[in-house]
Amino acid sequence: MSKLFHIVTYGCQMNVHESEKIAGLLSELGYDSCDDIEKSDIVVFNTCCIRENAENHAYGNIGMLKKLKAANRDMIIAVGGCLTQQMNKAENLHEKFPYVDIIFGTHNLSKLKDYILEKRASKKPIIRIEEKEGEIVEGEKPLRTSYPNAWVNIMYGCNNFCSYCIVPYVRGRERSRRSENIIAEVKSLVAEGYREITLLGQNVNSYGNGTDDITFPELLEKIASIDGKFRIRFMTSHPKDFSEELARVMAGSDKICHCLHLPVQSGSDSILRAMNRRYTSADYLKKVEILKKYIPDCEITTDLIVGFPGETEEDFRATCDLVRKVNFSSAFTFVYSRRDGTKAATMPDQIPEEVSKRRIMELVDLVNAQTREHSARFVGEITEILCEDYDAKRGLYLGRNEYGRMGYFASDTDERGNFVNIKVTQANGVSLYGDKV
Ligand code: SAH
Ligand code: SF4
Ligand code: F3S
Repeated sequence: MSKLFHIVTYGCQMNVHESEKIAGLLSELGYDSCDDIEKSDIVVFNTCCIRENAENHAYGNIGMLKKLKAANRDMIIAVGGCLTQQMNKAENLHEKFPYVDIIFGTHNLSKLKDYILEKRASKKPIIRIEEKEGEIVEGEKPLRTSYPNAWVNIMYGCNNFCSYCIVPYVRGRERSRRSENIIAEVKSLVAEGYREITLLGQNVNSYGNGTDDITFPELLEKIASIDGKFRIRFMTSHPKDFSEELARVMAGSDKICHCLHLPVQSGSDSILRAMNRRYTSADYLKKVEILKKYIPDCEITTDLIVGFPGETEEDFRATCDLVRKVNFSSAFTFVYSRRDGTKAATMPDQIPEEVSKRRIMELVDLVNAQTREHSARFVGEITEILCEDYDAKRGLYLGRNEYGRMGYFASDTDERGNFVNIKVTQANGVSLYGDKV
C-alpha cells in the first residue's frame, strides 16, 4: 500500500499554491494525497502569520496532533511557511511541540524532500530556517488542486514594508521570475485545459523592477496573446504602482477579467502615511477614476484595516467615506493585529479592542450592503460562469463570472471546466442563482 500525505494550509493564495508545490514534492517521493489526517504518514502544516489569529489557528491544530503522534510514532509531522520563518519562531515551536519532526521556512521549501529522506534515516528533529531568499526554483511540478484555475507565481517577496505588515520579513526581498519561464508555464497550462490563470505576487505592478525583463503590463499583454479561451486574473496590485498603462492593457484584451483587487487599507491620509503606503486617499480615488475610464464595468475589491495605532474616530470616518465613494464590489475587512518586529508594533496609541470591534462591525455592514447591491445588479442579466465544482447538497453547479461573483445553476451534464452562460434570477449576498441559457 502506498504511503499517504495530508497538507493543512493557512493564509493567502501564495500559500495555497505553495502547498500544491509541497504536494508535488511529496508525490515525487511516492506519497499519495489523503483527506484523512489520521491515516496519513506525513502531515505538513503550511502556516501563515499575517495576523495573530492565523498563528493561533495553526498552533491549535499542531497541538491536536500530539495524541495522534503518540499513537503512531512513524508519522512524520512537518511545519513550514511564514510562521516558522519569523525570527525565533522555529525554536519556540520546537519547544512547544517537541514531537514535530521537521521545521522549515519559506526560503527552503524546495528542500523538504531532502529533509524527509533525512528524517526517515534518523530520529533527530530537523530544524532548518534559511535567512536568505536564495535563487528562484524553476521546473517545479505542483500537484494542482484548483482546476479549472491554475496559480502561477510571477514574483516572490515584498519591498514595501507597510508598517503593520510581517510579509517582507518572512518572504524576503522582491524577485521576479523570468518572463519566458512564466509564459512557457501559462502556455502549457492552457494546453492542458486550464481555463483560468491567476498570476501571483505580493505587488504584481513592480514585476521585473531592477532587471532587464519586461514590465507587468507587457507581461500581461504577452500572456493574453496566448491562443485559447481562458481567463486571466492577477493579485495583488499596490495602488502606488497601479498605472494607466495597466488599465489600458486590461481594457485591450477580453481574456483579462474586468475586476481588480486594489487594497486601500484606510481612507485617512495621516493613517496611510503612518502605514507607509505612499499614496493619499485622493491618489487612490484618481487611480479608480482612470481604471473606470478605460473599463467602465470594472469591479474593484479591496482590503481594509481598522484600529491601526493612533486611528481616531475622524480617521475611521474617512475610511467609511472612501468606501462610500468607491463603492466596492466586495472587501476584506481586518482588525489591525500587532506583529512583533514591524514598525507599527512599537507605535504609541494601540487601539483598545472594544473600539476596533465597534469600528469593524460598522465597516462590515457598509461593505456588505455594497456587496449585495453589486450582486443585485446582475439579476435579469446573462453572465458567463466558468464552472468550478458541483455542490451535491444543493444539486447545483457553481463557478465565478469574470467579476468574481459566484454563480449557481442546474445542469444535466457535467459542466466542470466549461464556460456556461446563465440568466441570473436571484442574488443573495455574494452569490448569484440562475438558469443555463
Ligand atoms: N501584498 C498584498 C496583501 C498582503 S496581506 C497587499 O499589499 O495588498 C493581505 C492583507 O492583510 C493586507 O492587504 C492587509 O489588509 C492585511 N494585513 C496585513 N497585515 C496586517 C496586520 N498586521 N493586521 C491586520 N491586517 C493585516
Ligand atoms: Fe505587506 Fe505592504 Fe508588502 Fe502587501 S505591499 S505584502 S501589505 S508590506
Ligand atoms: Fe500569505 Fe500569510 Fe505568508 S498571508 S505571505 S501566508 S504571512
